[in-house]
Amino acid sequence: MPETARLQMGDKAVDLPVVVGTEDERALDISTLRAQTGYITLDDGYGNTGACQSAITFIDGEQGILRYRGIPIEQLAEHSNFIEAAYLLIWGELPTQRQLNDFSDLLTKHQALHEAIRHHFDLFPSNSPPMAVLSAVLNALSCFNPEFLRIDDENSFQEAAARLMAKVRTIAAYSYRHDRGYPTIHPHPDKKYTANFLHMMFSQPYKDYEPDPEQVRALDLLLLLHADHEQNCSTATVRMVGSSGANLFASVAAGVCALWGPLHGGANVAVVDMLEEIRRTKTTVKDFVQQVKDKRNGIRLMGFGHRVYKNFDPRSRIIKKACEAVLAKLQRKDPLLELAEELEAVALEDSYFVDRKLYPNVDFYSGTILRAIGIPHSMFTVMFAIGRMPGWIAQWYEARKAASPRLHRPRQVYIGPAQRSYTPLDKRG
Ligand code: ACO
Repeated sequence: MPETARLQMGDKAVDLPVVVGTEDERALDISTLRAQTGYITLDDGYGNTGACQSAITFIDGEQGILRYRGIPIEQLAEHSNFIEAAYLLIWGELPTQRQLNDFSDLLTKHQALHEAIRHHFDLFPSNSPPMAVLSAVLNALSCFNPEFLRIDDENSFQEAAARLMAKVRTIAAYSYRHDRGYPTIHPHPDKKYTANFLHMMFSQPYKDYEPDPEQVRALDLLLLLHADHEQNCSTATVRMVGSSGANLFASVAAGVCALWGPLHGGANVAVVDMLEEIRRTKTTVKDFVQQVKDKRNGIRLMGFGHRVYKNFDPRSRIIKKACEAVLAKLQRKDPLLELAEELEAVALEDSYFVDRKLYPNVDFYSGTILRAIGIPHSMFTVMFAIGRMPGWIAQWYEARKAASPRLHRPRQVYIGPAQRSYTPLDKRG
């Protein structure tokens, strides 16, 4: 007998089906609630609303667990790489050597940009926000590939997905170099995904950039750790846009816009801004924490807290360790990393943060590792977008493949004026 939960509303009892996930998490299926009772549910910010059933990523926010397709993030971080993890997320299984080679070859094939796309960069003013450029150019890719906009065609999906994965880093590097007035560097056919990105960012026409292998590894790890995170703001946006039947290019361009905000992906920039401000103003860590705790100041400890994690975000621990390893390898110190560590130690002992279960999230240390790799501050959130691309693609695909994909369309409780008559202009005021 399938499990149900009974909702008693006055004399009326409604039995709601219970949906049970692989890890025994439970949800009430309220899809017929309004038809049966006239009521809807209200959940500001969707903190308690499951928008879909998904087989891609599992998070246990209380325990601090994250798995891609069942595999713990710690194991992937240790043994895998970004491209293999991307394959796993999109296709559901780890690739064989042959599948991995074919996938890598496909990405290499599509990594260059159409010349006309390259001219788009000339039309953006200098100092354009790189996330705006990224979103615009990703969306513009659809104009160059109209044959791959058929949303229910498997071949179209594969071609569009490969182009997005391959070109997102080329677009990112071109936008950076264009902004600086540097000549563009074409992707190198023999370089791997992450090394190729650094090549396009930092090589010169007369001299190849040779990053330390530890920096390449750390960046690849960072991309892997950002690759998916179930129904976060940008991924939910991608699924929402895709639910209208919009193509993959348009849907991920919308995801980039959602990621941009400082409460989501933009937090990696906000953390470094915050650390720099603390240093500039010579504020002590204790004083800064006091300022955060006093709500009248409206200051948040950026990089702390998470809608789902009420424990350590496992990614933040991995990133912190990797950041220390890169700096040790380069024999460098970063005063911002030391400051972040000090802030973390003070916050984790403070009842304000302990009581609210506020722990470091993925963004707390990602800015410091990006600094160690040499990525400029303006590009931090773009790096998050490059990492999140396979997750957006996988989630869009899963939603399109659902047995009966539905338009996402939340309801509301209207609290505006009751019906009233139109007042002609000369009778107002
Ligand atoms: N600093 C200080 N107080 C905080 C913080 C913070 N970083 N985060 C939450 N709180 C407090 C809130 O003021 C609230 O306090 P109250 O109960 O006294 O009113 C309580 O903790 C709960 O906070 P909410 O805002 O309700 O939590 P929510 O789940 O809506 O927000 C969020 C999660 C947006 C991530 C929040 O913790 C935050 O703003 N963090 C800083 C920004 C950040 O790091 N974002 C990146 C998140 S990870 C990602 O998206 C990739």
